[in-house]
Amino acid sequence: MKRIGVLTSGGDAPGMNACLRAIALTAHANELELIGFQRGFNGVMEQQYQTLSPYHVSGIIQNGGTILKSARCEAMHTEDGLKLAAANLHDLNLDGLLVIGGDGSFRGTVELAKHYKGQLVGIPGTIDNDVDGSDFSIGFATALDTALDAIDKIRDTADAFERIFLVEVMGRHTGYLAVAAGIAAGAEQIICPELASELDLDKIAEHVEQARKHRGNCSYIIVIAETMYPGGATVLAADLEQRGIECRASILGHIQRGGRPVGADRILATKLGAYAVEQLVQGAHLMMAGEINGKAGLYPLALTGDKKKQVDSYLLRWQQQVAQY
Ligand code: F6P
Repeated sequence: MKRIGVLTSGGDAPGMNACLRAIALTAHANELELIGFQRGFNGVMEQQYQTLSPYHVSGIIQNGGTILKSARCEAMHTEDGLKLAAANLHDLNLDGLLVIGGDGSFRGTVELAKHYKGQLVGIPGTIDNDVDGSDFSIGFATALDTALDAIDKIRDTADAFERIFLVEVMGRHTGYLAVAAGIAAGAEQIICPELASELDLDKIAEHVEQARKHRGNCSYIIVIAETMYPGGATVLAADLEQRGIECRASILGHIQRGGRPVGADRILATKLGAYAVEQLVQGAHLMMAGEINGKAGLYPLALTGDKKKQVDSYLLRWQQQVAQY
């Protein structure tokens, strides 16, 4: 193995730069030449890449975003696109490719293996934390802290005005971020796909009314995972208002993807980046470098999207029990 590539794909996540740094340093230590593709798989299609030496990655560990830029790539969903990507990787004499991204990027990577003869290894990088085979994905810890910071601030104004707030957090079709942010912020209710596929608006309203009976007029925060309600939190707020529950909606959106990675993300990113390169050298193929119970390990790339990882059901159950108090 002489020459490898790396790319960041899908929604960017804080810590991707820390991961690129670890990959470049480890590749150098193993006498591997490393190139980084720009804008995810689009850079492979369009042959847009740059050399990544230790020099190129110095001073980036603390920065959010990704120096390689990230994107989703439509061409990876077509046979022609997959063939083109494989041909370009062969032309560049790449013995292996590291893909930092989420389960969508890994699905494309598994498809690419039908045409590409080199080794393929994934590293979980997504704020959604919805990747099986790793307790945490790079970016989740930072996104959680960002969401918490915002919800704590919303709590201040909600307290001052004795208001009800709906706070919408990201997570695509999963509630890992919603549950973690809701629990840590002391939200009165958490609404996420793992709990129910359809919302019972009467029940939500009833919980709010019960809590107000117990506590008097008070702030009340409902953290809701995106995609839980058609039209999102703003429409849900309007619909709850029709049931006599006046509330404000706050959509946290892409701020959750930005910012300086917290320490936990920098450490995870460094560990998984270094481990992925070492495993590539050892011959790993179609595997993801993840961390379970503090230990780095490999997990089949094809199984990373099975959604077997559970949200914390104990805390979720407890939270539902106390939603009305
Ligand atoms: O997968 C990361 C993520 O931020 C999800 O939480 C969210 O649903 C999606 O990406 C948003 O995508 P985009 O940036 O394309 O709007």
